Amino acid sequence: MIEMFWPTPVLRDESPWTADELAALRDFAVERFAHHKAHPQEHGLPEVDTRLRLQHNLFHPQHEELAPEVWGQFKSWVNDLYRGYLREAHGVRNANDLQIQARCIPVLNQPGRRAQPHYHHTCDHVLCLYLDCGHGRSPPSERDWAVGDGELILQDPRPMAGFPFWEKVRYIETRPGLVVLHPSRVWHETNPFNAQGTRVLLVVTLRVASHNYCELYTELGSPGRPAPQLDSQLKPRPALNSAERP
Ligand SMILES: [Fe+2]
Repeated sequence: MIEMFWPTPVLRDESPWTADELAALRDFAVERFAHHKAHPQEHGLPEVDTRLRLQHNLFHPQHEELAPEVWGQFKSWVNDLYRGYLREAHGVRNANDLQIQARCIPVLNQPGRRAQPHYHHTCDHVLCLYLDCGHGRSPPSERDWAVGDGELILQDPRPMAGFPFWEKVRYIETRPGLVVLHPSRVWHETNPFNAQGTRVLLVVTLRVASHNYCELYTELGSPGRPAPQLDSQLKPRPALNSAERP
């Protein structure tokens, strides 16, 4: 008997947004991306011998106050979609009770650019909403598969000797309106964007911040400086009802 113990649930679906709404989200992502490049923020990155990029979160108030009308619906849709995914993919019965944290970043690719292989740390899942995939793209059947055009590539991180190595990679053809949600641990990349225009997407990294051991953690502080109390130390933890206990 062969049981599938650890399949990786990946959501791939059509989002509900109209062309006008996708355009509004696209314009916001493009403007905020340009603003971030022009006004890089300073924050306490660790001193390591590695080049780290500054990041931001479009869900912060200073960005949201500039967002289009559809932004609130977009955020609410992300929330519902993620809870539905957790319920369906992982059998989380009390998904609506979870505290969810999120970070939203705009991603822009000019022709020739790609996302290098990576996974996401500090979060559990990643949601991508594609807003603009350029124009003048060749149909997938006519592409040189070794070059491609902006496909999302997901790689099963588990090692496997020999056969069937090519099935460890899954290609997802991207188009405006497509949403993909996958575990953050999955290594992924994109083929170079080989069409004209600009490739634009919104990426939301998501994490579950309750009903797990996150609430038990305390800060150690730095040498000579007492640790501040975390919110979770000040507030009593809500009790689980009997239906929610593992
Ligand atoms: Fe990514």
